[in-house]
Amino acid sequence: MQIAVLASGRGSNLESLFRSLKGHPSARIALVLSDRLEAKALDRARDLGIAAAVIPHDDPEAILSHLRAHEIDWIVLAGYLRRVPRAVVAEYPDRILNIHPALLPKFGGKGMYGERVHRAVLEAGEAESGASVHLVDEEYDRGPIVAQRRVSVEAGDTPQTLAARVLEVEHALLPEVVRAAAEGRIRVAEGRAWIESGIGAARGNAGE
Ligand code: GRF
Repeated sequence: MQIAVLASGRGSNLESLFRSLKGHPSARIALVLSDRLEAKALDRARDLGIAAAVIPHDDPEAILSHLRAHEIDWIVLAGYLRRVPRAVVAEYPDRILNIHPALLPKFGGKGMYGERVHRAVLEAGEAESGASVHLVDEEYDRGPIVAQRRVSVEAGDTPQTLAARVLEVEHALLPEVVRAAAEGRIRVAEGRAWIESGIGAARGNAGE
């Protein structure tokens, strides 16, 4: 399975996914695309020996031509801040994953990224937060949730301390879901998604 990772920023999920897939019999990150020339993810990709390119986020043909050239089967959004163009979603139905640093469907949607997510969780007085991996459709953070992992919110947490705790579980969860995708274990029916066995095996993926 050839994977493209789309990233706008730092690229820590890209790196943890890459390391986790090392030696995997079939899944490999073949391409990294970014909408931002200055994204650290591009430097990481080059350091890891992965083909990398900058794409105009609103030009589906440009994006698709890169994906086709690398025979990409699945797309993983790891800190990608743009909406995926409709034509790209149409060409990869139920084959685009996104990781979000909160327990969707809460704390998602347009403008909910980075520190803002964690600030909103703290302001809402939540006892828990976590990471969600979901399938991507044309709207931000809306497609069916495949798996979630929870962390507790602790007294005295700041957006930064909470972000760090969530990031740790992101680095474990995303590779697990991508492996499930590579093994054909992600199921989608009636607007719901789940992993057939392994993590999140229970239908409805209530998390950990
Ligand atoms: C992560 O928190 C991810 O959930 C969110 O953006 C952040 C990206 O971090 N979508 P990194 O670029 O992978 O380090």
